[in-house]
Amino acid sequence: MEFEQAWLTYTKRDSGKETEEIKYIRLSMQGKEQDKVIQNSILELQRAFAGMFGRELIVCRKPEQSVCLMLTEGMQAEAYHIYEDKGEVTIAASDSKGILYGVFAFLRQVQTGSPLDGLDLRKAPKMPLRMLNHWDNMDGSIERGYSGASFFFRQNQILVDERTVTYARLAASVGINGVVINNVNVKDAATWLITERYLDKVGELADIFGGYGIKLYMSLNYAAPTELGALDSADPLAEEVRSWWKEQMKMVFERVPNLGGFLIKADSEGRPGPFTYGRTHADGANMLAEAVAPYGGIIIWRCFVYNCQQDWRDYKTDRARSGYDNFKALDGQFLDNVILQIKNGPMDFQVREPVHPLFGGMTQTNQMLEVQIAQEYTGQQRHLCYLIPMFQEVLKFRTYVQEENDTVEEIVSGKTFGQCNCGMAAVANTGDDANWTGHDMAAANWYGFGRLAFEPELSAEEIAKEWIRLTYGADKQVEETLLFMLMSSWKAYEQYTSPLGIGWMVNPDYHYGPNVDGYEYSRWGTYHRADHLGLGVDRSRQGTGYALLYKEPNASVYDDKRKCPDELLLFFHHIPYTWKLKSGKTVIQHIYDAHFDGVDMVDEMVERFRKLEGKLPQKQYLRMLERFQHQKEHAREWRDQINTYFYRKSGIPDERGREIY
Ligand code: GCU
Repeated sequence: MEFEQAWLTYTKRDSGKETEEIKYIRLSMQGKEQDKVIQNSILELQRAFAGMFGRELIVCRKPEQSVCLMLTEGMQAEAYHIYEDKGEVTIAASDSKGILYGVFAFLRQVQTGSPLDGLDLRKAPKMPLRMLNHWDNMDGSIERGYSGASFFFRQNQILVDERTVTYARLAASVGINGVVINNVNVKDAATWLITERYLDKVGELADIFGGYGIKLYMSLNYAAPTELGALDSADPLAEEVRSWWKEQMKMVFERVPNLGGFLIKADSEGRPGPFTYGRTHADGANMLAEAVAPYGGIIIWRCFVYNCQQDWRDYKTDRARSGYDNFKALDGQFLDNVILQIKNGPMDFQVREPVHPLFGGMTQTNQMLEVQIAQEYTGQQRHLCYLIPMFQEVLKFRTYVQEENDTVEEIVSGKTFGQCNCGMAAVANTGDDANWTGHDMAAANWYGFGRLAFEPELSAEEIAKEWIRLTYGADKQVEETLLFMLMSSWKAYEQYTSPLGIGWMVNPDYHYGPNVDGYEYSRWGTYHRADHLGLGVDRSRQGTGYALLYKEPNASVYDDKRKCPDELLLFFHHIPYTWKLKSGKTVIQHIYDAHFDGVDMVDEMVERFRKLEGKLPQKQYLRMLERFQHQKEHAREWRDQINTYFYRKSGIPDERGREIY
């Protein structure tokens, strides 16, 4: 399959003053022996200079008039320092990953046209782990994949080719240092990934990743010992099970030295886990952690745990509570090489959710934030929805677990509790489509996720600008238009889909398109609980009590419908249609207005986009236009279905008299 270079295009740049100077720059390497990562850093510089200026960069030992790569002592792991002095640029770091990140940062400077004169840039990644989780199945399909088939697997074989290298370059260029290659729902051939059958190929893949500072991780089938036919039990406290894992892990790590560890989804949505044996998540995770500890491996255990069989008609049963209720009591019981991976919200990657209450709920457990750049519930990469502003809100959220340094960002960067096994993971949005992400502009979420995990202090707008410049060059109109579109897209999507934090209202199973009563697990409920008087789920102390899982003052704010922020009101409360929001509108009028406004916003986006014809490469322009046209129509479908439904339920007309179909 043909593939493009996404934001690593390195196309010809206009020859300004800077570039004139750079033309004559040579590359020198000082310091220790060159490892693969350094070699790849040099290759990247050479590739970029050839592409941008048609010049060959010569590697020499003397730092005269050159880009100098320098390994020095005393800097933080993965950090870099780039500085210019008398026309010479030095990229210094204490390890080769720092050099690699420094090289990509330097190239960003050149590509975005930032001045190099007097450059003095010191950066160290905020999050220790910056990971992509691929939900790729070994038959080549991707769970919640919207960009074609897997480029890691096809017909139960592992693929290693040119695309693998480009993938690793793209990931490393934004600071990704860990990649889980297979779906968290480990079934079929994937159970065999930790066996002789696949280890050679896994090793090859891991070697390529290693050359770009990326550790390879795999999702693990908790029931592997029984499913592989080795044992009758997977009881984490049984001696034979424990020693089976130890032996297996010894073999796997010996064969794949660049393995970082494993990701596990257990006892949720039908996946096996320690509950079968009456054991806890801590028992299960710790057993595996002990087995991987001798090799520096880590176990990432997901907190997306709920019982999808439970009877949802019981009003007190609240899926939102489930992660908290399952894990809170286990705080402090996990070994140090276990990380709990927590989705940003308590439900499932909706367009708007409150922050997961486990952040701030746990104080003695390594934690990692899981977000989803695969747009499962946010338009499936057919709609434009730039998610970095949402992730930023999550990171800035104050948990009040202590008086200061209490934000989600500080927790998962290790600052709050002095941890180093922590960070951020995104469910990946890539596939084997030529442009990697289906929608060309969905690449901004991939790019943005990596940049944000490395430097969460960047604004969503800065990140978007970088991505636009790198991908499409420096044309002002292109930049302004695409920036406007990216920055308006999340709000627009929220407006024309589900209002005020209620979430869902999508077709069950495939999660695309409006279906107001669409409900996943039985025919007995809805997510929105609307009747003729109002809608929303009462999660206050009178309801499921979920609001009280937060630390004060958050708990009191969410618990009280007068204090609860508008955008989350229906998540926390069952509210009459006639209730006045803080904005001054009634709930029903907000629903109508938001849906009309959201569609108007999409219309404006598309109108502005059309003016870029001739300014973007034609192929890309047409590919994007097709998606925007679909989004335009589909946004109307959403608007009309939602507005009609709530008009019929409430019987209250739009005060502005617009036609509601
Ligand atoms: C969602 C998604 C599933 C996925 C699950 C998970 O429910 O729809 O496909 O398995 O999340 O995060 O494990």
